[in-house]
Order: sequence, then C-alpha cells, then structure tokens
Amino acid sequence: MPRDGAIESQAVADHLAILGLAKRVEKVAGEIARGEKRLLGALRTEAEALRDALKEHNAWENRTLLPHLRAQGMLGTRRAAYLEQDHLTQIEIVSRAVDGLETQSVPAETLAREMLELVSQLREDLADEEEMVLDEKIWGRPRSEDEE
Ligand SMILES: [Fe+2]
Ligand SMILES: [Fe+2]
Repeated sequence: MPRDGAIESQAVADHLAILGLAKRVEKVAGEIARGEKRLLGALRTEAEALRDALKEHNAWENRTLLPHLRAQGMLGTRRAAYLEQDHLTQIEIVSRAVDGLETQSVPAETLAREMLELVSQLREDLADEEEMVLDEKIWGRPRSEDEE
C-alpha cells in the first residue's frame, strides 16, 4: 500500500502537468485564431501531446485512483461510474479534435477555436474532479493552497 496521500498527490501532479500542456495548446490556438494559420502544425503537435498525457492519466486513474478511493470509502459506485464515463468522454472529445487537426477538414480558425473551447472545458473538468474526489477531506488542507 502506498504511503498516505501518495496516490492523491500523483493525481494532482498529473493534473498540473496536463494543465501545463493545455496552456501550450491554448497559446498556439490563440495565435491561430488571430490569423497565424502557419502554426497549425505546431498546434497539432501540442494537441497530440495533451491527448496522450490525458489518455495515460485517465487510464491510471481508472486503474489506481478510483479503486484506491473506493477502498478508502471516499467514492461510491455511482460516482466512480460517473468519473469513468467522464474519462471516456474527455478522450473522445480530445481525440476528435486532434483528428480534425490532422485532416484539416474545417478552416484553421475553426479548429483553433474548438481547441480553445476544449481547453477551457478540460480545466473545468479537472477542477471538478479535484473538488469531487480530491478535496480537503483527503488532503487535510484547503484546495486553494494547492493552486498557488
Ligand atoms: Fe484526473
Ligand atoms: Fe479523471
């Protein structure tokens, strides 16, 4: 059994890394939305990195975090099922967006705006997840301290 809080710490560390990748996507997408179409290749690279990190993270959560929280009595069956579903949906949305960047079936500005929306949705999802399953009951301190 890992030491107390190690799994939760890992989840939050992963979230920070994912948010870092999301920020890179956001930066490039913002430039494309302002007319820098030549950055589409760079956006694709950044978006692929985000998709891969999220895939790995979500699989790890399903495999490790959720069973851990369930064993601690911190997570009921319904909430666990909701989180697993949410993980599938996240990957579907990000993968579809990356596919769009690969096929370039719609204009660059549209792809960029989709990516910007996706990033803000992802930020909300990660924050919701932290609130729902990684709150101060587990951490023993307010979440705001972890956000600095
Ligand atoms: Fe997560
Ligand atoms: Fe998650």
